[in-house]
Amino acid sequence: MTTNNRIVLSSDHAAIGLRQTLAAHIMTLGWEVVDIGPTTPESTHYPKHGEAAAQRVVSGECRLGIVLCGTGQGIMMAANKVKGIRCGVCSDTFSARMIRQHNDANMLSIGARVVGEGVALDIVDAFLSAEFEGGRHGTRVDMITALEE
Ligand code: RB5
Repeated sequence: MTTNNRIVLSSDHAAIGLRQTLAAHIMTLGWEVVDIGPTTPESTHYPKHGEAAAQRVVSGECRLGIVLCGTGQGIMMAANKVKGIRCGVCSDTFSARMIRQHNDANMLSIGARVVGEGVALDIVDAFLSAEFEGGRHGTRVDMITALEE
């Protein structure tokens, strides 16, 4: 089990500002933030940023990951193609808490064109403060993992 306190953040061009705001906030919570960019506003391709963040998680370098794009959907789809990733898009705090508690999500995706900064910060807080409950939920997560084979 990975026990480090590192979290990777990445986005496409649509979410650079929100990503940097979230990174600063997450640091105040005691996490070591690995922000892998991008930092310049040119149009870029969300799959490569989702994949790059996902690799930091499955390698064990980072315990969790947060990715963002305009809707949160495309970068989530890309991250979930990496074996071992369970990434959910959240626009509300209930879902953000539940994807940790029930789905053992190791990545969170947020749509920067969907939610405002205040909601995004609350979503991140909900995600980071929740813990996986295990038990019957572990059985179901194992079934998700089995689909990768
Ligand atoms: C970029 O315009 C946009 O398509 C992207 O940020 C994201 O919303 C894709 O899912």
